Amino acid sequence: MELNPWATVDIQDYDELFEKFGLEKIKLIPELEKNVLFRRGIVMAHRDLDKFLGAVAKGKPASILTGIMPSGPMHLGHKMVVDQCVFWQDSGVKTRVLIADIEARLTRNVMPPDAKRVALEEYLANWIALGLDHTKTDLYAQSNRSIPYYDLSATLSGRITLAEMSAIYGSLSPGKITSAMIQASDIIHGQLPEYDGKSNVLVPVGFDQDPHLRMTRGLAEKEGFIKPSSTYHRFMTGLEGGKMSSSRPNSFISLNDSVDVAMKKADRVLTGGRVTLEEQKKLGGEPDKCVVFELETFHFMPDDKELADLKQKCLKGEIMCGECKQILKDRLKKFLENLAVKREKAKDTVVGLDVFR
Ligand code: TRP
Ligand code: SF4
Repeated sequence: MELNPWATVDIQDYDELFEKFGLEKIKLIPELEKNVLFRRGIVMAHRDLDKFLGAVAKGKPASILTGIMPSGPMHLGHKMVVDQCVFWQDSGVKTRVLIADIEARLTRNVMPPDAKRVALEEYLANWIALGLDHTKTDLYAQSNRSIPYYDLSATLSGRITLAEMSAIYGSLSPGKITSAMIQASDIIHGQLPEYDGKSNVLVPVGFDQDPHLRMTRGLAEKEGFIKPSSTYHRFMTGLEGGKMSSSRPNSFISLNDSVDVAMKKADRVLTGGRVTLEEQKKLGGEPDKCVVFELETFHFMPDDKELADLKQKCLKGEIMCGECKQILKDRLKKFLENLAVKREKAKDTVVGLDVFR
């Protein structure tokens, strides 16, 4: 199994990743338990999270940083990183968010006018609607940062060989190499004297981004910076089972979907129900194989007791999938309606932001 930041990875066996790449399992502490994604094991792996938490606890300089890829629709799978950033920001940690427009141009063929529109209106407006406080966020586009940031990227690219990069990434192209070196600078440049100086940084991402973290941690060490920490969330299942994929709209719910479209998609969501009602009453459903239950777990049922009750009812055959799915649909509808109102407001905000050149 390989992790590749530029291909859709389908992870069958998370345990294999821990062994193969030396990722660690998250040990819950009260601070992390406040967040539903940590508490439920959705954010499940890390590198050096303890070191980061230690720095935060001691009041040492620390920040989180993550990137927005302005390509394709923003869907519920993307919301998990937003929720984490909002959690860290609300607990007082300095927050940096970047728009990966150089990477989008080099690896996804998204050109500047589109990248800007997608980044601001389809992504950032949703981030703000989901709770990111842009006034407390250091927000930038990769194409519009500072000389020390680009200079660091150049320095780092001179500190690694093609063979070392190939061992981490597999097949490469000049565009991918440039993207990777820019991303390394995204992650490290906060430690430059022009920014915070030596400090701890945590990067919340999906597992596909781990190659970038492995390379960047090695480079940080070589250059005398503090090695960045990272956390990894598990991927969501596609709505109809299988992988969630940006090229198949029926596999995800976009945050920009109308309620009508989302309700139609919800009707098709795979359940863990039995073939007949009679059988389901007798045997119960299979919540661990159910995408409805996964959606509640990841996004729509933050109350642990409520979720545990639902699971019990399902297992005992006391609730049928029709009724259960209706609960999900009601929540999804409310969520999207509420988000749309906030997003429209946020759109006015984002046009005034000085993010792009
Ligand atoms: N490569 C990331 C993606 O595909 C975006 C990104 C760019 C990023 N720079 C970053 C993520 C730094 C985390 C940290 O989505
Ligand atoms: Fe899933 Fe609900 Fe059906 Fe159980 S009752 S299998 S949780 S849809």
